[in-house]
Amino acid sequence: MAVMDAPTTVDDRPGPTDTLGRAMRDLRISVTDRCNFRCTYCMPKEVFGADYAFLPRDQVLTFEEIERTARTFVSLGVEKLRITGGEPLVRRDLPHLIEMLAAIRRPDGGEIDLTLTTNGSALRALAGSLAAAGLQRVTVSLDSLDDAVFGAMNGIDFPVAKVLDGIDAAIEAGLAPVKVNMVVRRGVNESSLLPMAAWARETGVVLRCIEYMDVGHSNGWRLDEVVPAAEIVEAIAAIWPVEPAEPAYRGEVAGRWRYTDGGGEFGVISSVTQPFCRDCTRARISAEGMLYTCLFAVEGHDLRALLRSGASDADLGDAIETIWLRRGDRYSELRSQATSSLPRIEMFAMGG
Ligand code: GTP
Ligand code: 5AD
Ligand code: SF4
Ligand code: SF4
Repeated sequence: MAVMDAPTTVDDRPGPTDTLGRAMRDLRISVTDRCNFRCTYCMPKEVFGADYAFLPRDQVLTFEEIERTARTFVSLGVEKLRITGGEPLVRRDLPHLIEMLAAIRRPDGGEIDLTLTTNGSALRALAGSLAAAGLQRVTVSLDSLDDAVFGAMNGIDFPVAKVLDGIDAAIEAGLAPVKVNMVVRRGVNESSLLPMAAWARETGVVLRCIEYMDVGHSNGWRLDEVVPAAEIVEAIAAIWPVEPAEPAYRGEVAGRWRYTDGGGEFGVISSVTQPFCRDCTRARISAEGMLYTCLFAVEGHDLRALLRSGASDADLGDAIETIWLRRGDRYSELRSQATSSLPRIEMFAMGG
C-alpha cells in the first residue's frame, strides 16, 4: 500500500505529532448523543425510534469534566474547540459550558477558536446567550430551502423557515461568519444546490457542500448517492464563475471557492472523492468521554474512566499525548470494500 504523502506544510508549534507527522490542533466535543431531528443520513427514524436507548445522564461527561478535558487538550496544542452532538443545543445550560470553555487560554496566552455545529432549530432561543457567553461563531446544517425536500431529509418535517430564522438570530447575535453545511445526496436534494448557493450569496453566509459519507452503519450509504465535489463546483461555477481560494488554515476541511463577481465564497467537503487525511489534526470526544482519533474509528479511548478515577491533570495529559503519538488513522484515504465492512461508531455518537 502506498505511503501517505507528508503533511502539506510544516507545523512547528508545540504539541505531539502522530506517526504521520500530524499535530493535534482541533478538538470536537460532543455534549449529547440526542437530537430532535432524524436526518436520513445520520439518525434514520426507522433505526432511532422512540425506544432507542440514548446515554443515561450519569454516563455523560459533566461540564466540569468537559472543561478539564478541553483545558488539557489546549495545553497540548489544540487551538480550536467545536461543540457538537447529536444536537448540542438540546443539552441543558449549554451557555454555561460555553462560558467555562471561553475562559481557557492557550499556553502562549492566545484565544482559542470556539465554535459550534447545530441544526439551527433552537438558535432563535439561544443565539444571544451563547454569544454573550463567549461563543464566536456557528455552523448550521441545512440541506434544502424546499420544505418537502428538507422535511423528508430531517425526518420530522421540520420547516425550513424555522432554521432560516435561527440563522438570522445567529447573525443578529454577531456569531459570524455563519457557515451552512449542506449534505448533497444524489437524487434527493441535488436540485436544491443552486437555490441554496443563490440564497447564501444574498444572505452572506458561507455555504459548504458536503459529500455524503459512509459514516456509522445505519444510513445504508451507497457510492452512487455521492455527488462528487468537482461536480458541485462545476454546477455552481456554470452560473456564477469562481476561482480557487487559499485554505484559511492548514488542514482546512473545506476546499474554498471564491465568486469572481465579489459575491463571497463557498466550500466543498470532499471526504469521499478527495480525502484530506494528510492534514487531519482533529480529535473527537464523545458525550460519554471516549477519545476518537478518526471520524471512522472502530474504537475509542476511555477518558471518562481516567477522569473519574482520580487521575491528575498531568496523568490525563500524558494519556492523551500517548494516544496521539500512536495515531495513524487515514480512513478516507484507505476507503475500500475491505474497510467499509468494519464496525463503526455512529457520527452523532462521536460528534460529527
Ligand atoms: P471551520 O472551522 O469552520 O473550517 O469548520 P470545519 O471545516 O471543521 O467544519 P465542520 O465542523 O462544520 O465540518 C464540516 C463537515 O465536514 C463535518 O460535519 C463532517 O461532515 C465533515 N468533516 C469534518 N471533519 C472531518 C474529518 O476529520 N474527516 C472527515 N472525513 N470529514 C470531516
Ligand atoms: N455524510 C456527510 N455529512 C454528514 N453529516 C451527518 N451525517 C453525514 C453523512 N453521512 C453532517 C451534518 C452536519 C454535520 C455535523 O455532519 O449535516 O452538518
Ligand atoms: Fe441531528 Fe445533526 Fe444527525 Fe441531523 S445530522 S440527525 S441534526 S445530529
Ligand atoms: Fe481525519 Fe479520519 Fe477524516 Fe481522514 S477520515 S480526515 S483521518 S477523521
